Amino acid sequence: MKIGIFDSGIGGLCVLHKAMQVLPQAEYIYYADVDNVPYGTKPRTVILEFCKGIMDYMVTQNVDAVVVACNTATSVAIKDLRSMYSFPIIGMEPAVKKAREEHPVGRTLVMATPVTVQGDKLKYLLERVDQNHLVDLLPMPDFVGFAENDAIDSLEVEKYIIDRLAPLKLEEYSSLVLGCTHFNYFKPVLRKILPDRVCFVDGIEGTVAQLSRQLSNISLVDTPSDCKVSYLFSGRKATDEQLAFINRLLSRLDAAELIK
Ligand code: DGL
Repeated sequence: MKIGIFDSGIGGLCVLHKAMQVLPQAEYIYYADVDNVPYGTKPRTVILEFCKGIMDYMVTQNVDAVVVACNTATSVAIKDLRSMYSFPIIGMEPAVKKAREEHPVGRTLVMATPVTVQGDKLKYLLERVDQNHLVDLLPMPDFVGFAENDAIDSLEVEKYIIDRLAPLKLEEYSSLVLGCTHFNYFKPVLRKILPDRVCFVDGIEGTVAQLSRQLSNISLVDTPSDCKVSYLFSGRKATDEQLAFINRLLSRLDAAELIK
């Protein structure tokens, strides 16, 4: 079984990280579109073209399914992609429904990219699950760049978060939805800044559960027992330096999983 996972960059590693736990027998292709990151501040037509290019590559690799491990790409392209390709395509959207169900008392804050925040997909989701208007959206346009540039622990990030949160009454919130896969890397610093009662919610587990359901009819026989992952950076094989960065990020995701 071969699974393609793609994102504009390193964000979707959080989905790969979880998928390897749930489906360890599968073979994975992780595609980071680093030449075009960030997606979340670009025009929708441009993002759609990036996604189609990646999907065409996935077709050449005979994948059984693709996870669009990017809320932004899902917001823009999931409908078109599903109409163009015949294998299962699993998308991601900010886990607002989960946040409201699990933390009904208090408000929910959704951090996402500007494209996701402005997109119709999230608007329609809120119409369904936020009839009492308890969900607020906060675009975080600089987060992706900080993650891609390995500046996750910098003081600049801390200052950026404090500035972005300054207009909000934090004591009113009980949940924070991480509505972009890159944002998971910031859980430690967000935990430091946010009141204790604000819990993190993301769509990673739900996405991987959906992937697993979609693939339940495909045989795992003859696939390797240890995870095998090919990492592609905008179509090029990852260098040793890039692989070392990925390994550090996967260790960060081990730690981030424990932060609630
Ligand atoms: N990781 C992507 C997401 O989940 C966003 C990345 C970007 O803006 O490039 O939305």
